[in-house]
Amino acid sequence: MAKIVIQKKIKAFNKVINVDGDKSLSIRSLLIGSQSYGICKIRNLPKSEDILSTIEGLKKLGIKIYFKKKICFLYGNGLNGFNYKKNITINAGNSGTFARLLLGLLIKSPYEIKLEGDRSLSKRDFQRIIDPLKEFGATFKSKNKRNLPLKILGTEFLRPIKYLEKRGSAQCKSSVILAALNTPGKTIINAKKSRNHTELFLKYLKAPIKIIVKKKYDIIEIIGQNQFKSFNYDIPGDMSSSAFFIVLTLLSKNSKLKIKNVNINPTRTGFIKIINKMGANVKFVNKRNVCGEQLADICVNSQKRLKSINCPVELNSNAIDEFLIIFLLASKASGISSFRKLEELNKKESPRLKLASKILKKIGVKVKLGAGSIKIFGNPKLRVNKKILINNYYKDHRIFMTSVIAALCLGGEWTIDDMESYSSSFPSFLNILQKIGYKFK
Ligand code: S3P
Repeated sequence: MAKIVIQKKIKAFNKVINVDGDKSLSIRSLLIGSQSYGICKIRNLPKSEDILSTIEGLKKLGIKIYFKKKICFLYGNGLNGFNYKKNITINAGNSGTFARLLLGLLIKSPYEIKLEGDRSLSKRDFQRIIDPLKEFGATFKSKNKRNLPLKILGTEFLRPIKYLEKRGSAQCKSSVILAALNTPGKTIINAKKSRNHTELFLKYLKAPIKIIVKKKYDIIEIIGQNQFKSFNYDIPGDMSSSAFFIVLTLLSKNSKLKIKNVNINPTRTGFIKIINKMGANVKFVNKRNVCGEQLADICVNSQKRLKSINCPVELNSNAIDEFLIIFLLASKASGISSFRKLEELNKKESPRLKLASKILKKIGVKVKLGAGSIKIFGNPKLRVNKKILINNYYKDHRIFMTSVIAALCLGGEWTIDDMESYSSSFPSFLNILQKIGYKFK
């Protein structure tokens, strides 16, 4: 169990960086690739734990995948082209996205397949996926009904469903979309707004998917059992990973940063909208479209004056992975920031809302925590000048990275346990910090 000790703030910097490839798009490219017909070439896949779990899982299902000169070659066997065998166990590690989306692709399996995960994933809710997939005709077994480990058994006799997704969960929506690919007839999804990468990916491949955009909900129609071809795909940089460096720049003196080639799909930029309302002035330049997604370079400068925010709840699902780092920013803003309807945050890799409140209190920030809400009493003069220990946080990668950024901006002596946690989503995190100028002991 390695730990990191940070004793100094980062010095002023002016740099250009690239962050690792987007986690959501990486997992989708592999899963959708497995259902395509032909050889896919995927560039810029990060070698993060979640992606490695996805690759290992697909290999167990008979998909040939290898890397040559940093390009991932994946041999799609077509729709439902997995090589099903008896007694397959797939370990999804820490990845909720892989586990939940994969179940959608297993609804035709003629044998039971066991799905398991690490301690954090085994505490997360799977009932939200089991319910719609049962309606397609799949059956499930598990000791503890809602959680992993579980077993899924598919059926030949699938029926299309009408599904109402009310949580704003892209994982639930995407699992159903993937299940619909293998199901005869038309599946119709009425989904609260959430990241729309699966829809855009299938549109890019010209698969029969129709998206009707409404104000709060999207209606998605998929006609199943229509084969699509293999593809070449470039994974753009991850907005959620960029968020850590954006906040580091905002809260460091006389600093400037450009992050190149980042996905700026509007369903992922709630974070930018929120922090710009707080006075961050983050800009997108060189906007372009690649593989059906919008990309840009992100420019950010230090910001002395940040305002508090009454965060609009309609931005919640488009910023869901960035709230920890937003809370850090709110702690240095002037005034009281208020965030509501964030119950889902307690259902992530760790109970993030509760842990954020605990950590902020530890560093001297006044916080009022509700069941799904938090009020942060910001203090532009906030500094830390004592020893801080961050431990027992379910190895949540985003808690680790937020704590590192807090240490580098606020000072004090921070010891953060379970250092390996960041590699589940962002393996270059510490290397980039070194490039920006931080010297780790
Ligand atoms: C993801 C969706 C979100 C997000 C997760 C990735 C995806 O989860 O928190 O990190 O790639 O679909 P929910 O669907 O549970 O909101």
